[in-house]
Amino acid sequence: MSSADALAEFNRQLADKHLLGFWNAGNIAETYEPKASYDPHIWRWQDVHDGLIKAGELLTLEQTARRFIGFHTPNKFRTTHTLAMGVQLVKPGEVAEAHRHTMGAIRFVIRGGGAQTTVNGEAFPMQCGDLVTTPNRTWHDHYNGSAEPIIWIDGTDLPMVKFFEISFGDMYPTLQQEVTKPRDYSAYELGPARPDWVRNESVQPPPYRYRWEDTEKALAALGERPGDPHDGIVLRYINPLTGGPTLPTLSCEIHMLRAGERTKSHRHTSSMIYHAFRGSGVTVIGDQTFEWSEGDSFTIPQWQWHQHTNHSKDAAVLFVMNDKPVLDALGFYREETQTK
Ligand SMILES: [Fe+2]
Ligand SMILES: [Fe+2]
Repeated sequence: MSSADALAEFNRQLADKHLLGFWNAGNIAETYEPKASYDPHIWRWQDVHDGLIKAGELLTLEQTARRFIGFHTPNKFRTTHTLAMGVQLVKPGEVAEAHRHTMGAIRFVIRGGGAQTTVNGEAFPMQCGDLVTTPNRTWHDHYNGSAEPIIWIDGTDLPMVKFFEISFGDMYPTLQQEVTKPRDYSAYELGPARPDWVRNESVQPPPYRYRWEDTEKALAALGERPGDPHDGIVLRYINPLTGGPTLPTLSCEIHMLRAGERTKSHRHTSSMIYHAFRGSGVTVIGDQTFEWSEGDSFTIPQWQWHQHTNHSKDAAVLFVMNDKPVLDALGFYREETQTK
C-alpha cells in the first residue's frame, strides 16, 4: 500500500469514529484575513415599499403575526452574518399580538406615525423617526390607532441567537398586554433628574423610546462640529442606564453626512446595515459603487473597505445598525484606515 493510500485509509478510519485530522482542514501556514461569506447589497425603497403594500393586501395579521419582509443578501439568509433587518407594516386599527423572545429588537419608524408599541406595560408612542427598543425577553405588542399605515425598520440579533441555539419564545395570554405605567414613564424614570430607586441590575437595557424630535435637534445643534472622518456626524443611541450600546448585541446610530461631505475610507471587523432616512449619497464598498437615496437600505460586510460621499446640497441622514458591541465585548474589534 502506498503512503497516500495508507493515509486515505487512516482518514477513513478516523471519519468512521467521527474524528478529523488537522491535516484535512487545509493549509493554514499562511497569512490570511477575514473574508465575508456574503456580498454587500442594496435593497431599493420602491421594491421594499411595493412588497409591503402587496403583503398588506394579501395577508391579515391573523395569518402572519408580524407583516414583516426581511432584507436577505443574495448569498446569505439574513442581512449580515450577525444581524437581521427588514420592514414591517401595520395598517390602521391593526394589533400585532403580544409576545416575547430571546432576540433583542429595535424599531425605527420611517413612514407614518401615531402607532404605539407596548413594552413591559409601558405604551411607547411611535412617531416618524422614533426608535423604540424591545430588549431580550421583554413583552411587546404593536397597535396602530392612527388613520394611516405605519412602516418601520425592524432590526434584530436573530442570527446570533440562532448561532448560539438559545431561542426561547412565549405568547402573552391576551392579544395585547395591559398598559400599567403612565405616559412617558421611562423618559422620566431614566431622565437626567431620575429617582433614587433606579439601579442598573441587568446586562440588558431597559426598553426605551428615543424621540426623533430630540435626535433632530441634536443633529441641528452638533452638525457643524468636525465629526468622524469615516462616518460624518455620529449619534449613538445609548443604554440610558449605562451609556453603553443600544442593546448588548447591537448598536443603533444616526450618521449625518453634510452637504458635499466625502469621508475617508476604512474597514473594520464589525458589519453594518444602513437605511437612508433622509437625502442621498454614494457609498463605495470594496470595488462596488452603490448610489442610494431616501428609503434605500444597504449592507457593509465585515472587513470591506468603504467610503461615503454626499454629492447633494442637503444633509443625508442614515439610520445605522451594527454588531460592534459584540466584537468590542469579545476583543474582536479591529479597524484599519486608508492613509492616502
Ligand atoms: Fe417580537
Ligand atoms: Fe465604517
